[in-house]
Amino acid sequence: MIKNRPHILLLNGPNLHLLGKREPHIYGSMTLTDIECRLKQKASNHGIQLTVFQSNHEGKIVDKIGELGLLADETLQFDGVIINPAAFTHTSVAIRDALLAANKPFIEVHLSNIHAREPFRTHSYFSDRAVGVVCGLGDLGYDMALDWFVQYFNQKLSLV
Ligand code: DQA
Repeated sequence: MIKNRPHILLLNGPNLHLLGKREPHIYGSMTLTDIECRLKQKASNHGIQLTVFQSNHEGKIVDKIGELGLLADETLQFDGVIINPAAFTHTSVAIRDALLAANKPFIEVHLSNIHAREPFRTHSYFSDRAVGVVCGLGDLGYDMALDWFVQYFNQKLSLV
C-alpha cells in the first residue's frame, strides 16, 4: 500500500520495554521510548509513517503483524517491518510465520552482538528471510534499518 506515504511497523519483543535499566552494559542507556521517538521523527522527516509496538507476548506480536498486515480484502497495510524479536529471535516459529505470511521486507535488529554471547543466541528464526540483520551496534541499529527503508521506498516511488 505504498501510495505516497509508506508505512513501517517497528516491533520490539520481550523485556525491551526495560531498555535503559536492563543490563545497560549490554543494551545501552537509551530507553525504548527514546528510540521510538527518534525513529518516528526521522521517519516523518522522510515522509514515512512509523507505527511502534512492543510486547512481552508472542501471540500479541503475531496479532499485530496480522492486524497491520493482511486485511479481509488482502490489501497490505504496511510496507515493511523493523523487528527486534529479543528472546523470541531464538524460539519463535510463530512470529517468523506471521512475517512470511505478510510477505513484506523486514530487517532484524539486535542491540547486542548475538554472535559474541551465549551459544543459544547465535541461532535466529528470522535471519535467513530478513533483508538484512544489524547487530551489535546498539540503538544505532534501528536507525540503520530505517535508512535502508528510506532508500528502498525512494527507489520504489521513483519507479511508480
Ligand atoms: C536482543 C538479543 C537477544 O538474544 C535477547 O534475548 C534480547 C535482546 C538484542 O537486542 O541484543 O532480549 O535481541
